[in-house]
Amino acid sequence: MKKKTIILGIETSCDETAVSIIQENLGDKPSILSNVVSSQVDVHKEFGGVVPELAARSHIEKIDLLAKKAIKESKIKIEEIDAVAATAGPGLIVCLSVGLNFGKTIALSLKKPFIAINHLEGHALSPKLNSNLKYPYLLLLISGGHSQFLSVKGLGKYKRLGTTIDDAAGEAFDKTAKLLGIEFPGGPKIEEYAKLGDENYYSLPKPIINRGGCNLSFAGLKTAVLKISKTIKSSKEKYNLAASFQKTMEDILCQKSKVAFNEFKKNVKTKKNIFVIAGGVASNKSIRQKLTNLSIKENFEPIFPPVNLCSDNAAMIAMVGLEKYKLGIKNKLDFPAKPRWPLDKKAAFLKGAGVKL
Ligand code: KG4
Ligand code: ZN
Repeated sequence: MKKKTIILGIETSCDETAVSIIQENLGDKPSILSNVVSSQVDVHKEFGGVVPELAARSHIEKIDLLAKKAIKESKIKIEEIDAVAATAGPGLIVCLSVGLNFGKTIALSLKKPFIAINHLEGHALSPKLNSNLKYPYLLLLISGGHSQFLSVKGLGKYKRLGTTIDDAAGEAFDKTAKLLGIEFPGGPKIEEYAKLGDENYYSLPKPIINRGGCNLSFAGLKTAVLKISKTIKSSKEKYNLAASFQKTMEDILCQKSKVAFNEFKKNVKTKKNIFVIAGGVASNKSIRQKLTNLSIKENFEPIFPPVNLCSDNAAMIAMVGLEKYKLGIKNKLDFPAKPRWPLDKKAAFLKGAGVKL
């Protein structure tokens, strides 16, 4: 019987140290043999955001133990691994270097191929761990550092259709949470608070909603939340602001997704339109529901990773590693950490006030 490929994945691009082992299932989605994630929420919460030096130290302290745990849980022997895949970017360089060098060292000592992975590609392929997702598809990537619409034509074939011109969606959630006195990262708490409030209580702006194609902007929304947060006196008002913010985010994402559907259809000819929504913010249940309803109405099949694979993890990194390995793609051990590594290299850098849309 043909041996099923086993990949070890490593992720340390930001504040999650993660190691996973996956095994291919010919013609079906792979099996996750282990998926260990250690979050650094407690390390950073008193600072209200990720402190790079502390994050890197924490990766260094934990990576060894986590790798041992992942191997033990997978019930395989380390020698059975066919390749090592580690995130090489984008992310914080001091953090990336930890997992990247750890991965290279394991690959070298086992004499197995080393594969450098783009973290965003990990999110892009994450639904392949729970569905039989096939190319091409439209991708909405909504995380703490990125918010983009991409047309995904195949492995490594990305065309950016739209991106945020200021904050990322997750950043908007976290900043709103901070203004409401919620500890970092507050995204998930906003979702909880929103359930207790009136979503129509405050009218919040939807920047560039009727222009700029499917580009996104959240900075004006944050400024409006800042102003209102100064007037808040009761918990009820707090919940109302969270609910109004949550609804505004849903409206923005739905309206811009509609624009992206049209751009995707112009860009890609396919019988079946698929819409993948991935990244940390995709774990927001209400956003999942609204984007699902919209997709069905617009004749797109919505596909999400399971909630535990929306946030950073190493199974998604191993998933990209598996696809690359099957195509014979590997990297040399001098592959550098890349703080900036866009999926669509041809797309223009689009950030800051004064950007022409
Ligand atoms: O993908 P991810 O884990 O890390 C990056 O690559 O950035 O995304 C983290 C982001 C954070 O901003 C976090 O607040 C947000 O995802 N997030 C959420 C929810 N869960 C995580 N935002 C809104 N609702 C949630 N339930
Ligand atoms: Zn991420």
